[in-house]
Amino acid sequence: MRSSSSHRVLSVFQFAAASLLVIGIIRLVLENYPHSENSKRHAPAIRPSVSWTNVFSNLSQCDIFYGRWVLDDETRPLYEEKSCPYLAKQVTCQRNGRPDSLYQNWRWEPNGCTLPRFDAKTLLEILRNKRLMFVGDSIQRSQFQSMVCLIQSVIPDGKKSIHRNSPMKIFKAEEYNVTIVFYWAPFIVESNSDHAVKHNVHKRLVKLDLIDKHSQHWKGVDVLVFESYIWWMYEPLINATNGPPYNVREYNVTTAYELALRTWANWIDLNINPQTQKVFFVTSSPTHFWSYEWTTGSEGNCFNESYPIEGSYWGSGSSHDIMRILAKVIQEMKIDVTVLNITQLSEFRKDGHTSVYTERGGKLLTREQRLNHKANADCFHWCLPGVPDTWNEILYAHLLHYFYFH
Ligand SMILES: *[C@@H]1O[C@H](CO)[C@@H](O)[C@H](O)[C@H]1NC(C)=O
Ligand SMILES: *[C@@H]1O[C@H](CO)[C@@H](O)[C@H](O)[C@H]1NC(C)=O
Ligand SMILES: *[C@@H]1O[C@H](CO)[C@@H](O)[C@H](O)[C@H]1NC(C)=O
Ligand SMILES: *[C@@H]1O[C@H](CO)[C@@H](O)[C@H](O)[C@H]1NC(C)=O
Ligand SMILES: *[C@@H]1O[C@H](CO)[C@@H](O)[C@H](O)[C@H]1NC(C)=O
Ligand SMILES: *[C@@H]1O[C@H](CO)[C@@H](O)[C@H](O)[C@H]1NC(C)=O
Repeated sequence: MRSSSSHRVLSVFQFAAASLLVIGIIRLVLENYPHSENSKRHAPAIRPSVSWTNVFSNLSQCDIFYGRWVLDDETRPLYEEKSCPYLAKQVTCQRNGRPDSLYQNWRWEPNGCTLPRFDAKTLLEILRNKRLMFVGDSIQRSQFQSMVCLIQSVIPDGKKSIHRNSPMKIFKAEEYNVTIVFYWAPFIVESNSDHAVKHNVHKRLVKLDLIDKHSQHWKGVDVLVFESYIWWMYEPLINATNGPPYNVREYNVTTAYELALRTWANWIDLNINPQTQKVFFVTSSPTHFWSYEWTTGSEGNCFNESYPIEGSYWGSGSSHDIMRILAKVIQEMKIDVTVLNITQLSEFRKDGHTSVYTERGGKLLTREQRLNHKANADCFHWCLPGVPDTWNEILYAHLLHYFYFH
């Protein structure tokens, strides 16, 4: 059960003299809240369900990526779909007509520990004068949107803004001088799909050894969160170059993925300052296109699924080969990259996808398209609020630890 990533998790959360440091955190956190003086009479700004000491000491004892989903309508969702103006039509499932909403009410409970309660102001304090950038495809875009929604409600109107500077989307929280960026680079390395809107889905061509066009925009970014998976998985072979631009040939996807990842790893190793910058890599987001994988004999997909899967489950859409390559390449790097291994916990969430309550080509699916859910259900993207919020809670736990204890 213990994988290479759990080692990193352990080392991230391990520290000596936990209680002393934790007292330090509580003071730091509370001092940022003017109303905390009245905490005896009023509800304090931060009310973790357990003490900080427990949260942190237990995180150091557990692997936060193993656990179960528990129904918790008291604290979930962490924000309301309609109160976040930054969600794209692609993910606003309620507005798009999804009849059930239970998928918003599940909380991830790791075995043997509790995730720290997400607190937007604490995160903004941590990120003060910093940039946080998500690099990847539409899955990363949803993690970016989730992050923006998780924090935006504590920022008054007029003090927050979002704008597009293709291939980037940039959210700013003025008072904190915090910048949160989404950078579209579906293969991380350069490709013919790099235009944020007009990308070529069918004739993919990846430049396995080229990254500078993108990476020049990553220089000096305080927190970088990478992800790249589904764009590789279209066919077993992929057209790519690895050297002269005229030398296009078909590569085995696994071979191509490894070459690209090594290009990325090399850039990270040469350009990241581990004293001031932190790098994360998010593992593959699972798909739920074949319901016979969780209900024997059925012929559907994620459409009309309203509960998570119970018991052990790993869908065939999540490639073990790619996972192994990721683990190997990251282990061999000089710079410490923290793996956010969200695959297994998201595997259980067959209920969390946008299904037919989404858009295609900028338009909501029509009634007719929705009825043909076999052909049209999107069992890859996730509704928001939803599963990507949990990925961000885990990212938050890491950042909380990293920036207070380094
Ligand atoms: C943390 O771990 C201790 C000892 O294993 C246990 O007694 C306590 O209940 C745990 N706390 C939480 C919040 O899980
Ligand atoms: C604001 O944040 C940026 C990084 O995003 C930093 O370079 C700049 O120095 C900060 N400004 C101030 C006034 O601290
Ligand atoms: C690679 O490109 C060639 C020429 O455009 C095309 O015929 C072939 O189908 C492509 N292969 C893949 C795996 O897309
Ligand atoms: C191609 O990839 C498959 C898995 O996708 C793997 O089993 C096979 O060994 C690879 N072939 C080569 C030549 O690398
Ligand atoms: C959805 O599933 C329920 C059973 O869980 C079933 O009664 C209902 O007819 C299904 N709806 C559609 C549109 O297939
Ligand atoms: C992620 O976790 C899975 C088990 O859920 C494990 O098999 C895999 O090796 C881990 N991936 C990485 C990159 O550590």
